[in-house]
Amino acid sequence: FVDSLNPSADVLAMASTEVDISAIAEGQEIKVMWRGKPVFIRHRTSADIDAAKAVPLSELRDPATDESRVQKGKEQWLIMVGVCTHLGCVPLGNMAGEYKGWFCPCHGSHYDTAGRIRKGPAPKNLLVPEYVFTSDTNVRIG
Ligand code: FES
Repeated sequence: FVDSLNPSADVLAMASTEVDISAIAEGQEIKVMWRGKPVFIRHRTSADIDAAKAVPLSELRDPATDESRVQKGKEQWLIMVGVCTHLGCVPLGNMAGEYKGWFCPCHGSHYDTAGRIRKGPAPKNLLVPEYVFTSDTNVRIG
């Protein structure tokens, strides 16, 4: 009986997930699943990064610098849980929305190139999960 309460090997394996990011070209993104949720991994262009850095914190509903949402020296990689902070839809990526980041069509939330909420009903930025670069080409999420 006690055994049945322990997480199965499958569940443990999903606690973190390792992703090879070497094939994601600049300007592209992929979606992977982690703990049953989509995670967006975007290879940002320098224009994406510059646009995010240029926004004054006073304009943000959920103020966060671009630097706080990426890792130093790896600013081109933006990794976020792909769940809208309004009611949990999966936003559209690939420069969708008015801020060329992500757009949630459910009720019209626009996120910028740092995944910060800019317009629409969502209260918070897209969540940045814990992750670590295990090599130049791999990242482990969770
Ligand atoms: Fe995304 Fe409502 S769930 S805007």
